Amino acid sequence: MLIEMRDVHKTYRMGHNRVHALAGVTLEIEAGEMLAIMGPSGSGKSTLMNIIGCLDRPTEGQYLLEGLPVEGMSNDDLADVRSRKIGFVFQTFNLLARTPALNNVMLPLMYTGAKNRRELAEQALTRVAMGDRMDHKPSELSGGQQQRVAVARALVTHPAIVLADEPTGNLDSKTSAEIMQLFRDLNDEGVTVLLVTHDDEIGSCAKRIVRMRDGLIVDDGPAPHVCPMVAHELELGSDASSAATGDSGSDAPSTASDAGNS
Ligand SMILES: Nc1ncnc2c1ncn2[C@@H]1O[C@H](COP(=O)(O)OP(=O)(O)OP(=O)(O)O)[C@@H](O)[C@H]1O
Ligand SMILES: [Mg+2]
Repeated sequence: MLIEMRDVHKTYRMGHNRVHALAGVTLEIEAGEMLAIMGPSGSGKSTLMNIIGCLDRPTEGQYLLEGLPVEGMSNDDLADVRSRKIGFVFQTFNLLARTPALNNVMLPLMYTGAKNRRELAEQALTRVAMGDRMDHKPSELSGGQQQRVAVARALVTHPAIVLADEPTGNLDSKTSAEIMQLFRDLNDEGVTVLLVTHDDEIGSCAKRIVRMRDGLIVDDGPAPHVCPMVAHELELGSDASSAATGDSGSDAPSTASDAGNS
């Protein structure tokens, strides 16, 4: 089992009040799943993602990541697990604004000790069809392109898990479809993908949907896995999108020789 949570609670103290952001979550996720977490605002989705991503710890309960108990780990151990196993994608992209795409993508490799950082970052950017924009700063890219760079940054360390909190929240439907196609391709390659979304169409691109309410999981089951928006939007816009992004139509993993020697 990749992720195993038993009766996880997260309580925040706000002055005299306590907020039960998670009120007893039990969840098992196997390697290779693609899971959407849905539910109303404030239901605990981001709190759950932050705990799964080792950005935060449960107040109570047990979380095992690949069989290892997370609650007993030091902050250094947690940071180490994060940098080796987990890639993050955020709604607002969270790129360094004045830093070229290539350097943004190289950043997570600082913590892994990888030697060929530039080459790995070039490969990741080529993988998301941003090979022709590597020197652009985020301010010189569209929202969809910025999110592609953020996806490249998430996958540059070859993480087992990619966590995405509302990754399409700031994108139009066609660009959202392209980002979802990227996540599906990653999942086809064996990466476990967990995403938070408010959007039913985005949710149906996953294979399993977990619904939350008031800090609890209220529903958990297979998604239709039809992904109507990806089929529809990409069909309509495939020519335009491949013109903008190079050869996004194929989305094939690129080789080092493609990315290097530029
Ligand atoms: N750092 C914090 N300190 C205090 N309360 C918090 C903190 N983070 C979250 N909360 C509270 O915990 C609850 C769950 O928040 P969370 O961010 O997980 O919700 P969410 O489902 O991600 O909502 P949204 O869809 O709006 O992003 C909310 O009531 C929120 O106010
Ligand atoms: Mg949230």
